[in-house]
Amino acid sequence: MAEYNISRRKFLRMTGAFSGAAALTGGVYAYHIEPSMTVVRHHILQTPKWPAHYAPMNITIASDFHAGCPSVDLARLKAEVVTINAQGGDAVCLLGDFMNSVHSNNYYNGGTCMPDEIAGVMSDITAPTFAVLGNHDWKEGRGGALTGALNDKGIIVLENTSAQFEHEGQGLWLNGLADETTRLPDYQKSLSDVFNDDPLICLAHDPTSFWRIDDRALVTLSGHTHGGQVAVLGTPLWRPSDYRAPSAYNRGYVHEAGKDLFVTSGIGTSKIPLRFGVRPEIVNLTIEHALNAPRFI
Ligand SMILES: [Fe+2]
Repeated sequence: MAEYNISRRKFLRMTGAFSGAAALTGGVYAYHIEPSMTVVRHHILQTPKWPAHYAPMNITIASDFHAGCPSVDLARLKAEVVTINAQGGDAVCLLGDFMNSVHSNNYYNGGTCMPDEIAGVMSDITAPTFAVLGNHDWKEGRGGALTGALNDKGIIVLENTSAQFEHEGQGLWLNGLADETTRLPDYQKSLSDVFNDDPLICLAHDPTSFWRIDDRALVTLSGHTHGGQVAVLGTPLWRPSDYRAPSAYNRGYVHEAGKDLFVTSGIGTSKIPLRFGVRPEIVNLTIEHALNAPRFI
């Protein structure tokens, strides 16, 4: 039988080489591959706040494009819009950070596309579209221009305002909050035009806003967190976005104090141009009636 004697020094050298190769492979994957691998996810929210006589509604959700970051140029943005349209949703909700600010914290994460360029691409979305803006849209003073450009293309930008929507002859409301860190969110103000008890869906870029919202809303839809961007076995290793909310709001569904929240991990990247274990996503959320407690599938 052959005998293999590996010295301690050689063993450490081999271990170091393997670790280096694994880190390099992971880095290449996280920079070149995963940030471009958009996955379409399907979820169902059954809730007693959706009336029994209402037909189920499908909402297509996309967020945090960060157009201009290394993995999201205008061509990629157009491809995402093609994917959004392919879902055939009854409505589309876009949850902010269309732009990618290039402030100092974002040094490694590319440039940004301009409001007119972004709105031009978004204008190809075929379903009725509602949006809120995020912190990166406002950070460099272009939030007003982006709001105007999106509105000009028929996308309804909500900032402490609401809009009425009709789905198969049945009414509902969508309200949107101003961004938590760059603007002044005001939930009550956003409801000032809501004049009946039709179901209400709330859009808020930052899930921290979930604390401001009462149980009038049947669900709050948020982005901002990017799901952590880099996660191992579903556990994020850091926060690419600043927010005060607990880690439970990082991604997915939360039911808390009679309220429901869904947070999408979004499309683009922030601060570092990496995604690992948190693929970009477009989400189809079907909302339908439940007899008793809400259920998320
Ligand atoms: Fe973001």
